[in-house]
Amino acid sequence: MAKSLQAIIFLASALSFLSLLGAVYGDSRFFVEGKVYCDTCRTQFITKVSKDMPDAKVRLECKEREGGSVTYSIEGVTDNTGTYRLPVDGEHEEEICEIVLVKSSQPGCEEVSNDPFLRKTARISLTKNNGMATPVRQANPLGYMKNESLPECADVLRELGMTSTGLA
Ligand SMILES: *[C@@H]1O[C@H](CO)[C@@H](O)[C@H](O)[C@H]1NC(C)=O
Repeated sequence: MAKSLQAIIFLASALSFLSLLGAVYGDSRFFVEGKVYCDTCRTQFITKVSKDMPDAKVRLECKEREGGSVTYSIEGVTDNTGTYRLPVDGEHEEEICEIVLVKSSQPGCEEVSNDPFLRKTARISLTKNNGMATPVRQANPLGYMKNESLPECADVLRELGMTSTGLA
C-alpha cells in the first residue's frame, strides 16, 4: 500500500517536472503555413488560373495591440509550390500577428492593392488557448496582382457568375 502510494507520488512529481520542462523549453512552438500566388485575373482571390508563386518573400510580424511595437518578426521564402512555413516560438496571444508580402519573384506580377478594404494580409492566432491541438497554423493565401489580367479570365469570371465588367 505504502509502496504504491510512493510510486504514485513519484510518478506525479515526474510528470509535473516534465510539464515544467515543457513550459520552459519552448513547448509553444508554432509553424505558420500559407501560400503566395499570382493573381492573374486581378480579382484579389484565387481562381483556377491563379499561379503558385515560388521564391516569394513573406514576413510574419507580431505587434502589440496597443502602441503597435513589433514583438516578433521573421522572414521566409516560398518553395516551388508557393508555400512558406515559418517557425514561431512562444505564445503571442495578446498580440496581433499577420503575414505580409515582402517581395514578388515574378516580373509583371508584383502589384499589391493599397486599398485598405482590399489590401490582403493574413491574420493568424498564435496561442494554444484557442482549442487547436496542432502547432500548425494555416494563414490565408496572399496574392500579387498581375499587371494585366489573362484573356481567359473573362470565361473564368463568367463561370463564377461574375462579369469582368462588373468587377472593373
Ligand atoms: C507586364 O509585365 C511584363 C513583364 O515585366 C511586361 O513585359 C509587360 O509589358 C507588362 N505589361 C503592361 C501592360 O505593363
